Amino acid sequence: MDRTFVMIKPDGVQRGIIGAIISRLEAKGLKLVAAKLTMLPEEKVMEHYAEHVEKPFFPSLKAYVMSGPVLTMVWEGRGSVAIVRRIVGATNPAEAAPGTIRGDMGMETGKNVIHASDSDESAAREIAIHFSADELVDYTRIDEPVLYE
Ligand code: PPS
Repeated sequence: MDRTFVMIKPDGVQRGIIGAIISRLEAKGLKLVAAKLTMLPEEKVMEHYAEHVEKPFFPSLKAYVMSGPVLTMVWEGRGSVAIVRRIVGATNPAEAAPGTIRGDMGMETGKNVIHASDSDESAAREIAIHFSADELVDYTRIDEPVLYE
């Protein structure tokens, strides 16, 4: 089954909207298979955002994601990478569509609440950065038989 990596950033944790965000993903039909509330060490930030380290916004992005605890998660479901990206919405919450997490719960790119993998390749890479294989649990959602054709 397809998996994607999702991270609620420090503003999302500190604002107490973890539950609201998780509810949206659960209600959609996605299955939570790993979760960790943690402070990101610098090495993980550099590895996670490797393709952006030379960008002008990187210092503020790094300071932001290290400013408090994040909730890292792995969600499973058919087509989960694209589905979660649509639920999350555009990078800039000011432009993100209403109904999306960023569109409903954020104000600016520099505090955009949540990260989600942008491809299956990114998802595999990011899951491996943040979780070991034995931290991904295996269980069945009781509604699985009626979620899929
Ligand atoms: S790019 O240059 O188009 O590849 O960048 P983009 O895909 O839009 O964003 C890559 C990640 O950087 C975050 N970002 C920022 N953070 C803080 N401040 C500013 N100005 C900023 N611009 C982009 C953006 O949210 C992406 O991180 P994630 O965690 O994937 O959301």
